[in-house]
Amino acid sequence: MKQIFSGVQPSGSFTLGNYIGAMKRFVDLQTEGNCIYCIVNLHSLTVPKDPALLREYTMQLAAMYLSIGIDPEKAILFIQSQVPEHAELGWLMQCTGYIGELERMTQYKDKSEGKDVVTGGLLTYPALMAADILLYNTTHVPVGEDQKQHLEFTRDVAERFNRKYGETFVIPEPMIQQFGGRIMSLDDPTKKMSKSNPNAGSYIALLDDAKTIEKKIKRAVTDSEGAVRYDKENKPAVSNLLTIYAACSSESIETIVNRYEGRGYGDFKKDLAEVVVTTLAPIQQEYTRWMESPELSDILKKGAERASALATVTMDKARKNMGLVTF
Ligand code: AMP
Ligand code: TRP
Repeated sequence: MKQIFSGVQPSGSFTLGNYIGAMKRFVDLQTEGNCIYCIVNLHSLTVPKDPALLREYTMQLAAMYLSIGIDPEKAILFIQSQVPEHAELGWLMQCTGYIGELERMTQYKDKSEGKDVVTGGLLTYPALMAADILLYNTTHVPVGEDQKQHLEFTRDVAERFNRKYGETFVIPEPMIQQFGGRIMSLDDPTKKMSKSNPNAGSYIALLDDAKTIEKKIKRAVTDSEGAVRYDKENKPAVSNLLTIYAACSSESIETIVNRYEGRGYGDFKKDLAEVVVTTLAPIQQEYTRWMESPELSDILKKGAERASALATVTMDKARKNMGLVTF
């Protein structure tokens, strides 16, 4: 049985990139293994946040997980800070990983570049992520491609720990989709679609209304060829739109390309907007319902209890093996 774990940061709105690259998969995986999904609020602290906003974003992300189809009867859904073993094992992982490894992480380089001050947490972030994963004997981690390097770090520290202190952790595998693992910006196909982009036209937020989605897709950059064709090298913008279309409609790229043969980008974009709107409409309806539901906090509380029962077992083993006295 697969042991599946993944996490998303509660940092405001979510993009179609988050959904296609990672969260959509979370739903399908519920029938393939034991799934644990985490709202990684400790990771959000690496870039300081207003406390009231962090609270709000945390509950919004919980509602979003449930709205896309995470079923609390099938998967464990919880808030990272409610299971203190994450922070504790995070420290042990910081003391197992090396600064050189952490400084090589491209996400760290990107997020620290040009900043006047950078928190220590931003550098040690992957050690906490490793702890998240390793606490649950995770075998598979569904993530977008931008997390691949963090997964390699996780595997390296887990192997090093096992070697030095005896068999403790299961070595996890990343699950990265071939198509959709990296959804690109609508205004620049060389950058990944990201909610931190100051140009809101560069991404589709999961809560964007139909008009906004239509406008953003209409303005998305293409190329001068005018043919709907998949060619990542030479036609990155159109290939990205095709990937979004295929992911939302569950059709193959080939089927879509054939449909638009001899037709321009206008028709293609109009239909693409419709496909995206149709995909997001039910999620948005559910989201409004969950945000008003008194059940939300109960689900998270139960989730944290279930996660905690599993985390304490691995934590005990790690403490003992590393030489921390336990009575
Ligand atoms: P984050 O919002 O950074 O916590 O990311 C949550 C998940 O979404 C992670 O698994 C990311 O790898 C994934 N993700 C974020 N942006 C994209 C994107 N543009 N394309 C594909 N996956 C993404
Ligand atoms: N670092 C991930 C991101 O920014 C979020 C994350 C934290 C995560 N812990 C995790 C993802 C554990 C998978 C597994 O997207």
